[in-house]
Amino acid sequence: MMVDWSLSSFESPSWHAAVADIIRRRSTNRADVREVALDGLDLSFASAILDLGCGFGFMTEAVARRVAPDARIVGVDACSANEQPYLERVTGPSRVGRFIRRQIDKQLDWPDDSFDLIVASYSLYFFPEIIPEVARVLAPRGLFIALTHMEESCRDLLHAVGVENTDSHLRPVSRNFSAENGGRLLAPWFGEVERVDYHNSLAFGAAEHDDILAYLRFKLPFLAPASEPGSELPEPLWRTIQASLSHQGRVVLAKNDAAFRCRKPLCP
Ligand SMILES: C[S@@+](CC[C@H](N)C(=O)[O-])C[C@H]1O[C@@H](n2cnc3c(N)ncnc32)[C@H](O)[C@@H]1O
Repeated sequence: MMVDWSLSSFESPSWHAAVADIIRRRSTNRADVREVALDGLDLSFASAILDLGCGFGFMTEAVARRVAPDARIVGVDACSANEQPYLERVTGPSRVGRFIRRQIDKQLDWPDDSFDLIVASYSLYFFPEIIPEVARVLAPRGLFIALTHMEESCRDLLHAVGVENTDSHLRPVSRNFSAENGGRLLAPWFGEVERVDYHNSLAFGAAEHDDILAYLRFKLPFLAPASEPGSELPEPLWRTIQASLSHQGRVVLAKNDAAFRCRKPLCP
């Protein structure tokens, strides 16, 4: 089933980038998740690249460093505010990127075998029904990389902030395509599916009070859907965080992710 969650947090790319930076700073795993996802891959073969739910270009930025300097790179995202920051990250001396503002649903407009490399970084859970189309537009020797969360981490995050599962959009979204079910969802469409786990947590000490506040406010439309993005944290949620900071001196939030690297697309 397609999901129609509020994407309001993603309409401010500078805020999204600032939160990505907080995640980087507070991660207990010092390796960059994008480098782990791409580790050992030779992407020099890729001359046509598609990034689905590209946002401000977090994943494409890492991919662009590894592909041919003149590779054609296309990003698709529902939020038009991402266009400029995306193009800034992707464009190089001999490359002009392209951004398409579009709500991805069940269909892609490109002919079969159009791309050598397709990525969907923390986005496939918004439009999981696109997977057969990804297999169709991917070249036979192409590669599809999907980054996602572990459902277990989303459950732990909700527990840490004292939000009941039933009130939150986080688990329904993550269940659409997660580390736990991604292999099963991809298997009908790819002859080879490899999973690479990225074990991580975010650790915030009392001095990093502002960081945890910014991180949770960004996630608010998913944690407590009735709230406006960026609004103050609901009182019970903030009290839970304050209690952890004063009793344990820090808050640790699970943030385990996984990358699926898929080859040999199987077309209907
Ligand atoms: C968590 S962000 C990830 C962005 C980027 N790939 C990254 O790794 O930082 C999810 C992105 O998917 C986009 N998105 C969500 N649903 C979408 C849809 N149905 N069609 C197109 N973009 C969508 C949002 O606008 C947002 O930029």
